[in-house]
Amino acid sequence: MRMLNVGIIGSGNISNFHMKGYLELPNVKVIAVCDIDEKRAQAYAEKYNIPHVFTDYNEMLKLEELEAVSVTTWNNGHAPISIAALKAGKHVLCEKPLAMNAKEAQEMVDAAKESNKILMVGFVRRFEEKANLLKKAVEDGDLGDIYYAKTGYVRKWGNPGGWFADKKRSGGGPVIDLGVHVIDLVRYITGKPKPVSVTASTFHKLGMKPHMKGQGRYLSEDYNQDEPYNDVEDAATALIKFDNGMTLFFETSWVLNVKKPHNYVNLFGDKAGAQMEPELEFYEERNNYFTETKPLIETGSDQMNNIFNRQVSHFVDCILEGKPCRNPGEDGVEIMKILDAIYESAETGREVIIK
Ligand SMILES: NC(=O)c1ccc[n+]([C@@H]2O[C@H](COP(=O)([O-])OP(=O)(O)OC[C@H]3O[C@@H](n4cnc5c(N)ncnc54)[C@H](O)[C@@H]3O)[C@@H](O)[C@H]2O)c1
Repeated sequence: MRMLNVGIIGSGNISNFHMKGYLELPNVKVIAVCDIDEKRAQAYAEKYNIPHVFTDYNEMLKLEELEAVSVTTWNNGHAPISIAALKAGKHVLCEKPLAMNAKEAQEMVDAAKESNKILMVGFVRRFEEKANLLKKAVEDGDLGDIYYAKTGYVRKWGNPGGWFADKKRSGGGPVIDLGVHVIDLVRYITGKPKPVSVTASTFHKLGMKPHMKGQGRYLSEDYNQDEPYNDVEDAATALIKFDNGMTLFFETSWVLNVKKPHNYVNLFGDKAGAQMEPELEFYEERNNYFTETKPLIETGSDQMNNIFNRQVSHFVDCILEGKPCRNPGEDGVEIMKILDAIYESAETGREVIIK
């Protein structure tokens, strides 16, 4: 059996999901970990029995036996680290968002082409069973022409603070953190149409509400309770048009005076409609009655582990078996173009045309 030697760059929260995925695979060995926080990297290496520990990714990339890396750092590290890894001849699985903006993302894709290595973006929700069932239904023409879609990723009180709320390190707030997932899902499921224009608003009204009590929320490892810093939007809304004639309504928030957090992905076609959240359902006309269909598929608490395991396993298959990459870097660029346009439109108050 051919073994693949992998490294982790950024040993924080989400890297554990990559790590668990690699541990499931008999043909993968995680041989190196790097984090600018030396204690965190050391603890991670001990926890997972990883032989090489680094605080500088350039040093780690000198390891000849290292063939691939997961880049799971703050967003501002994604482009420089992935480009350095690709130039050093390593395959890269980079967390979402691919980069801070489309220009950086394109540079990453160019580096992958030059090195002839894989650049895969961590659009992990593409590995959900219901996403793929819905995608298949769209491909089979079950929905007909999809002319309208709606998606939202709405939190009530969910600004994680720390680097997430520091634009220099994150690139933005819920748009780049949460919106990236659901905008990509809609585009992936509907056959990757090209975005052509965006009209958007971002809102900086509520801040992070650090004084709130009564409900738990996820906080970034580097959240500083004494000086909670926040210079990103707390919510956003956008109308995104695509070259296949589809209009997508999008909303997202970290902090919003809404009853409950909720997510949705809804597609409306001229033959049928579908929703993906909380459960996959199809709506159509049958024998002159409005009819709902609900496939009985995977739900439950293992879902998060399952999708990360599938994503990591796919990355490894692309490297070892030459499978075509489901999440190529180019898709990350298209999404970054949309996110750039959301921020630009919000700032200028005008529609932004995407070329
Ligand atoms: N796919 C998902 O559903 C999902 C969920 C959460 C986070 N993420 C993404 O994963 C990434 C990490 O998020 P997280 O929640 O794990 O954050 P985190 O703060 O828990 O971990 C990030 C780690 O990266 C380290 N780091 C930062 N810059 C570095 C550099 N230049 N070199 C080495 N290490 C560096 C930090 O010290 C930290 O330990 C982000 O890009 C985030 O958007 C994805």
